[in-house]
Amino acid sequence: MVFDPFDRYDITPPDPIFFISSQAAADQRPEKVDLTIGIYKTAELKSMVFKSIREAEKKLLENETNKDYLSISGHQALIDGSIDLVFGKDHCERAICGIQALGGTGALCLGANLLAETLKMPVYVSKPTWVNHHNVFSSAGFMVKDYFYYDQKTQSLNIDAFFEALNRAEKGSVVVLHGCCHNPSGADPDLEQWKEISDLCKARQLIPFFDLAYQGFGQGLEQDVRAIRLFAKDGHSMLVAQSFSKNLGLYGERVGTLLVLTSEKSGVISHLKAIARASYSNPPRHGGLIAAHVLSDPHLRSIWEDELNYMRQRVNSTREHLADALAKSCPNHDFSYLKERNGMFCYLDLTKDHIESLKTEKAIYLTQSGRINVTGLNEQNVVYVADSIASVLE
Ligand SMILES: Cc1ncc(COP(=O)(O)O)c(C=O)c1O
Repeated sequence: MVFDPFDRYDITPPDPIFFISSQAAADQRPEKVDLTIGIYKTAELKSMVFKSIREAEKKLLENETNKDYLSISGHQALIDGSIDLVFGKDHCERAICGIQALGGTGALCLGANLLAETLKMPVYVSKPTWVNHHNVFSSAGFMVKDYFYYDQKTQSLNIDAFFEALNRAEKGSVVVLHGCCHNPSGADPDLEQWKEISDLCKARQLIPFFDLAYQGFGQGLEQDVRAIRLFAKDGHSMLVAQSFSKNLGLYGERVGTLLVLTSEKSGVISHLKAIARASYSNPPRHGGLIAAHVLSDPHLRSIWEDELNYMRQRVNSTREHLADALAKSCPNHDFSYLKERNGMFCYLDLTKDHIESLKTEKAIYLTQSGRINVTGLNEQNVVYVADSIASVLE
């Protein structure tokens, strides 16, 4: 008998978001509405390539003379552009170590593995959070704990429970914070609340790890990093995982950065490079170069900012349309909270049975938790969705 090391692997559950999204993709009913995965859709419900990215790609094709490896830490112009986007042009003198990463997930993984080298304390993630946070930090060896964040019963941020959890967290723990557009709830703290969170992190010696996957989708490029800049000004040593998947539409190109703000120049970057070298050696070249080009070329940068502004307006107006349509279709239910949310995601206040009925009877796909990506809606389907919700709520 040949020794088969593969006969001892149980089947692990599929990723809940990719799984439901593949079910939606396979559904052939013409009335189908897919509100699952976090990919921005146009008013025609199509995925898109940014004009600014297309132009950057054309330039790259004309001028590229080789396909050599990038360095282990990636394309410096991308890292510089990312630092400017996050911390501003006149960022503090404190050392910022940056490394290109495989999207926001790759940045989170690099940060998790860096922290795991010296830290044995738990990592706190919001309850609820993006499902992959648990995977990333537990894979790096951390115990992952929740801090209470959003109450689905009242559809509101429970800031007192959040503060209480931070007060109880073990000193030296890591706290994962959504820089803006909290996924899945779309509910963010206001600036005063962020200040209190910063003070609590300081008092409890907690390490802030910002996940910034939606800069530009909430209030604007600058406004969406106000919390991060406040923490930087407050003197935290902290990490930021920046994704360019959504705000440059580079999902499959895998472009992101990990930025580490430290109190002094340190060996951090050498450790990050060692982690990167052992897992993928060096980051993807094509996405890194085109993203850097859009960020650094004034002409492309202004096209990009216009595109992003337009997308943000579509996200906000679509969410408002949905809230208005639901107010008409379901007068006995309050969906007005939708108008106060930031970014692509929000919860619909529905039970698992409602969500299942919407799928089977109406071909409307939500994630299991009730999270929706509002860009799966447009003027043609929003009333259908609201009426269908009314019918399952009856
Ligand atoms: C909160 C959050 N963090 C990180 C990511 C990862 O982004 P990327 O696709 O760049 O890995 C996502 C993507 O959906 C996200 O929603």
